[in-house]
Amino acid sequence: MGKLLKVHSLTRFFTDIIIILDSKKIHPAYKISFWGKIRLGIKFYSNNRKIGTGTSHRVVLAMTLKILETPPEVKGDLIECGTWKGATAANLSIVCKMVGRKLKVFDSFEGLPEGKPDDRQANMESSFGQDFSNVTVQKNSQKASDLNAIK
Ligand SMILES: C[S@@+](CC[C@H](N)C(=O)[O-])C[C@H]1O[C@@H](n2cnc3c(N)ncnc32)[C@H](O)[C@@H]1O
Repeated sequence: MGKLLKVHSLTRFFTDIIIILDSKKIHPAYKISFWGKIRLGIKFYSNNRKIGTGTSHRVVLAMTLKILETPPEVKGDLIECGTWKGATAANLSIVCKMVGRKLKVFDSFEGLPEGKPDDRQANMESSFGQDFSNVTVQKNSQKASDLNAIK
């Protein structure tokens, strides 16, 4: 059963890459090929496994799509508010490098506020951010990504 779930999650991951990143709106200036998208998705998968993440891979793919759809003439950098261990920062820094933008990451490292007793999602997530620091984020980013793009 464990193996079957692994195969299922891997298959879902790859179909998500293809479905989400197969957009005609990706700006041609970024010259990203089909295999380039697959390589990007594999890197995300590996970073998420190595570092651990509180953000679903679909959300990261959706953010990636928005970044790739934004024309290069639109000036600006990206910020991540709440980076936790830095997995999404590692992933987005690769995309930022591709499009020539900087990624700035912030975290209080105090976790999320406690939710109301009947708020299951908030209570599951309240420990995110505790016991980590910017040192953890830097270490994780160094292992997994392109630090040039992270500030
Ligand atoms: C769900 S986690 C983020 C998950 C992360 N993006 C990832 O890729 O794994 C939420 C993070 O937001 C941080 N946080 C919560 N409130 C904050 C605030 N007011 N200012 C800065 N960081 C905050 C927490 O410390 C925690 O690390």
